[in-house]
Amino acid sequence: MNWFTKTFSSTVGRKIVMSVTGLFLCSFLVVHLIGNLQLFRNDGGAAFNLYSDFMAHNGVIRFMELILVAGFLFHIYDAIVLTSRNKKARPVDYVNNHPEQNSTWSSRNMGLLGTVILVFLIIHLWNFFVPARFGGLEGVVIEDVEYDNLYLRVVQSFQIWWYVAIYVIAMVALAYHLIHGFQSAFQTLGLDHKKYTPFIQKFGVAFSIIVCLGFAIIPLYFFFLV
Ligand code: HEM
Repeated sequence: MNWFTKTFSSTVGRKIVMSVTGLFLCSFLVVHLIGNLQLFRNDGGAAFNLYSDFMAHNGVIRFMELILVAGFLFHIYDAIVLTSRNKKARPVDYVNNHPEQNSTWSSRNMGLLGTVILVFLIIHLWNFFVPARFGGLEGVVIEDVEYDNLYLRVVQSFQIWWYVAIYVIAMVALAYHLIHGFQSAFQTLGLDHKKYTPFIQKFGVAFSIIVCLGFAIIPLYFFFLV
């Protein structure tokens, strides 16, 4: 095993990979949320469909998608390896173990929260991403050119109450996952400092709540107001 493989398969190396990929996925969430805000334009979905068409055909975006997939896969794989290493290191709980006194609920349930997000992601990609890339959407004409009507798919999906419920529940899970993950990533990367850590923690909480609320509002808006 060379030094590179050795470093990145060690526990510290894997934690660093999880932190870097986690922060990268956070930046994706911001871009994705800003793109999705096109849905609120009162134009019958034209801006959103044009934006989606750009995303589907731009070479740089397609390349970034590959990086995104790699980011997700590394993040998930390292999470599984680290969890099983932790379990092997301490198979039986201490008798006087009161984890609720010295750790938060989200820090103890990152695996559960991550699994809820993964299930959400599979449903989400199957419904939106797969037809957007591989076909199966109705067409719409905008300024004499035919585009996929992804906006219609969004509107139809969010008329279904249980679909909206899945999104809202998943966004609650994502918020808790990010609240712990954000500050934990900074700690792992050695970027914590007496002076800045309280700010990073507050910023992480605000970031997680604003981003997840932003995503949760979309299905609620289409269900109740459209
Ligand atoms: C209500 C909230 C959301 C809406 C309306 C939405 C909508 C969409 C749509 C329409 C696509 C296909 C776009 C295209 O390929 O052109 C897409 C792709 C995707 N979404 Fe979402 N999304 C939402 C929330 C989320 C969340 C919370 C995550 C992550 C936890 C996420 C992750 C992804 C990923 C990874 C892709 C594929 C990559 C991409 O196309 O950029 N989405 N989403």
